[in-house]
Amino acid sequence: MSEAIELAVIGGTGLYKLADLRDVRTVQPDTRFGAPSGPIRIGTLGGRTVAFLARHGEGHSLPPHKINYRANLAALQDLGATRVLALNTVGGITERFGPRVLACPDQLIDYTWGRVSTICEEPGTEVLHVDFGEPYTRTLREAVIEAATRAGVALVADGCYGATQGPRLETRAEIVRMRRDGCDLVGMTGMPEAGLARELGLDYACLAIVANWAAGAGPDPDEVITLQDVLDNVAAASSGLPRLLSAL
Ligand code: HPA
Repeated sequence: MSEAIELAVIGGTGLYKLADLRDVRTVQPDTRFGAPSGPIRIGTLGGRTVAFLARHGEGHSLPPHKINYRANLAALQDLGATRVLALNTVGGITERFGPRVLACPDQLIDYTWGRVSTICEEPGTEVLHVDFGEPYTRTLREAVIEAATRAGVALVADGCYGATQGPRLETRAEIVRMRRDGCDLVGMTGMPEAGLARELGLDYACLAIVANWAAGAGPDPDEVITLQDVLDNVAAASSGLPRLLSAL
C-alpha cells in the first residue's frame, strides 16, 4: 500500500508524539527487515500528510544500539514516504550549540560500532557503496532552514554531528577528542540511520535539538547531566517545532 505521505518524521528522546498532528490513523507495518520501533501515526499537519515514528518506541524502551534502523526507514518508505526528517536529541560541544538550540547539521562523524549499518547485510545481497560525502540531503536541509526562517524559529544552519554508541553519555576526554575531530554535536542515533537512508534512496535531514552541554563542554565543567534536564530542555526547545514542521 502506498499513499502520499509528504514528510516522514522520526522522533528522538523526549519526542514521542507530534503535537498538532490531526486526523491521526495508526499503522503497525512489518518490513523485510523486521518490525519498526512502534506504531506509525499518519495524519495531517499544515494541510499535508505527515507520518510520525518514535525511534525509541513510544515508551522509550529501545536503547540506541538496539533500534532496528533499517525497519524504521523501510516501513516509512513502504508507506510511500520519500523525505525523512530525523529529530535527534543531542549534546552541544562547541559554542554555538548550547542547550535549547535547534540545528540542522551538514556533516557527521560515526563513532558507533556493532550496529547493522547497511541494507546489504544479508548474504547474496548486492553490495552498495553509496556516495556519502554530503551525508544529509541538501535540498531537504535547505527546505528545513527556509521553513525555520518563515516560521520565525531560530535554527543554526550547519554543524557536524558525532554519533556515539551510548547508551551511556561520554567522558570529558571523549568530548575533548570529538571537539578536536570537528564535532559540534553529539548524539547516539544519527548513525546508521543517515547512511541507511542514503542506501534506500530516501531524502534525509537531521533536526538536532540540543538538550545539554556535552560532558565538560559547558561553562561549568563539573556539571552532571541529568535525564530531567535533558527532557526539560527538549520540551522547551521543541516549542517551535510544530510551527517549523507546518512551514516545511
Ligand atoms: N551525548 C550523547 N547523546 C546525547 C547527549 C549527550 O550529551 N544529550 C542528549 N543525547
